Amino acid sequence: EKGGYDTFMEKEIHEQPHAVGDTLLGRTKEDGELVLDELRISEEQLTNIDRITIVACGTAAYAGTVAKYAIEHWTRIPVEVSLAHEFRYSDPIVNERTLVVSISQSGETMDTLMAVKHATELGALTLSICNTHGSTIPRESDAVLYTHAGPEIAVASTKAFLAQITASYILGLYLAQLRGGTYADDAKAVMRELHEMPAKIEELLGTMDRVKEIARFMADTRSVLFLGRNVGFPIAMEGALKLKELAYIHAEGFAAGELKHGPIALIEPGQPVFIVVPGPDTPHELHKKVVSNIQEIRARGARTLVIAEEGDEDVVPFADEVIRVPKSSPLLQPLLTVVPLQVFALHLSTAKGLDVDQPRNLAKSVTVE
Ligand code: M6R
Repeated sequence: EKGGYDTFMEKEIHEQPHAVGDTLLGRTKEDGELVLDELRISEEQLTNIDRITIVACGTAAYAGTVAKYAIEHWTRIPVEVSLAHEFRYSDPIVNERTLVVSISQSGETMDTLMAVKHATELGALTLSICNTHGSTIPRESDAVLYTHAGPEIAVASTKAFLAQITASYILGLYLAQLRGGTYADDAKAVMRELHEMPAKIEELLGTMDRVKEIARFMADTRSVLFLGRNVGFPIAMEGALKLKELAYIHAEGFAAGELKHGPIALIEPGQPVFIVVPGPDTPHELHKKVVSNIQEIRARGARTLVIAEEGDEDVVPFADEVIRVPKSSPLLQPLLTVVPLQVFALHLSTAKGLDVDQPRNLAKSVTVE
């Protein structure tokens, strides 16, 4: 049942190229135009929306944060991400022109379900990105866009996360297509690149030996920090969450730009820090800025574990370890950069002799508030 792997999580990490590929499948015409007949929501309704609120918890909320950067860039529609339990008990600005997008692997997370019901009461249009057919959240929503990751057994979410990001890209690009003009042209180009991602993830999975080794050497580590910017920020958060869940190690993710506003005080000699580096072509010189963050923390003795694109030589002088990912356009990079962080958490957990698939105190689907 584990397909030759020791744990479900390891199996599911290796199923990620399929999770992405299958989520893309059947959603485009030959020329790259998206067709989402399955949505149960009319083009007119979607064209009318003027804001999007994403509600989700845990890993799904990090997928939502990646989605925010991408959808805003592609459509210019304002997107907000709200933890479902916070959304539910606040006074959100939501009306009939708001699309409330819930993201959930199980479709049964009580916090997310309550947020969707709350949004419906407020008159919003609700769309569920979900991995489980026939589950409660899609049934309670106006529209559904299924992810096709297949059943996810391990408590820690991996392939569902990649599928959620993929589905939210599809949604963003579809909205861009509905807007027409240059938005639609851009959408086609991104869709073409998305179709190349499964092969890149596969290639990346074949290069994880050093990451596994680093994890094994770090079994006694007590704290790990993760930094990223833009779409790399939720990936840093996700890397930290994986490590907490699986290895019971104190871990924190930060937006790299926050460093000097406080967290840099945590840096002391030997402190391991993962840094997700945006590709050199990322707008706003973000690449250069992150490289200088690495330089700053290295100067204070941090052990820098750098995730950077192939060919990015700028990071080399300041990196204790460079973990390479294939090149991609900036907004699609999360589908790659999260992979070494998943592999790292899995192997650190194994090195500590812990139960990878069933971490303590956690349930696969949280059906209570
Ligand atoms: O089933 P859902 O996607 O709604 O679950 C949401 C979170 O509970 C879930 O992602 C959780 O954070 C995972 N254990 C993360 O690995």
